[in-house]
Amino acid sequence: MAMKEEIGSTEISNPRGLPLETNFKVDPADNVTGYKSFQAGQFSFRRDEYFAYIETPKGAHTMSVDAFLRALMRDVAWGFFYGTVNFDPVFGTTNYYGEVDMFYGTLNEAYSSAGRDFVERFKADELMGIFKGIVSDWTNEGFDPFAAPRETGTPWGTKNGDNDEAVSRERVTARRMVGIPGDTPVRTDENGFPVNVMFDDVDQGQPEINAEPGFEAEVQAYNLFGYLSRSDVTWNPSVCSVVKDSLFCPTTEEYILPVEHGNDRCEWFIQMSDQITWNIKDGDTGRPKAVVAMKAGDVACMPADIRHQGFSPKRSMLLVWENGSPKVPELIREGKAPNVSVQF
Ligand code: PHB
Ligand code: FE
Repeated sequence: MAMKEEIGSTEISNPRGLPLETNFKVDPADNVTGYKSFQAGQFSFRRDEYFAYIETPKGAHTMSVDAFLRALMRDVAWGFFYGTVNFDPVFGTTNYYGEVDMFYGTLNEAYSSAGRDFVERFKADELMGIFKGIVSDWTNEGFDPFAAPRETGTPWGTKNGDNDEAVSRERVTARRMVGIPGDTPVRTDENGFPVNVMFDDVDQGQPEINAEPGFEAEVQAYNLFGYLSRSDVTWNPSVCSVVKDSLFCPTTEEYILPVEHGNDRCEWFIQMSDQITWNIKDGDTGRPKAVVAMKAGDVACMPADIRHQGFSPKRSMLLVWENGSPKVPELIREGKAPNVSVQF
């Protein structure tokens, strides 16, 4: 995920004033499908050959298990990410950094205006335990929820092995910058990151670095296009350079961002290659707001009060630029920081 390791020392905000739920349960494998089912608070989760089923006291929800596992994989790998991870227009999580709200219909105007919404609050590490259990148990051998559909087997059918190696991948989080001695390494054939076939025209040259004696560990440069051409995952921004709260989180994209991300701060997108079309909706209601087609070289700033989902017809490169300060979401909620980064 695009996030620094440490969580700020600021107090955990709880805008809905919800109590912490402590009921967690893993039920044994089903005799027919072979999958376990899971409970967190009054949410229950079950899968069969094609679908994930989420049940709450206010109603039941069904998702394709393919879409559900791709979304769950991001929520797990990103530690609940910034703000809201909508698995689809109905179900998702909102991160309060230490505690998490899990919701059904709460950020969907049709559900909430009819009183059909349900939300509960959890300690982040406790809910994460359940989410990690689901992604591990429900992912079959040969299916990689991080991969583009072209590059992976399918998630369908009854329980058939696992792919724990893929679903427990460590995300890249540079402390200062990729390639600095002791920091996360540049990708090469030798360390297991061959060039993706869709990027076989990307120049693999590296810049020449001539540091003054004594500054060899302080001066660094690398070929970011080459680095991204070797990514083995899609829709997974990783921290590649850090200057205080300024985080450069580039990523390679193909097919559909598996979540509708509801921002809790502004974030900048720089389209480095090819094209992504973004559907933008209101963060609270889900009302459609805009469709933004970003071509190579385009720059956009996503406001703090929207959700967005990207569609990338070819594997593309995107730089996501985040302000990682833990203070920003509360400043925005209190109206002390704006929802947009620039005004013209
Ligand atoms: C985002 O929500 O801003 C986001 C998430 C994953 C990506 C790119 C952008 O790969
Ligand atoms: Fe986002």
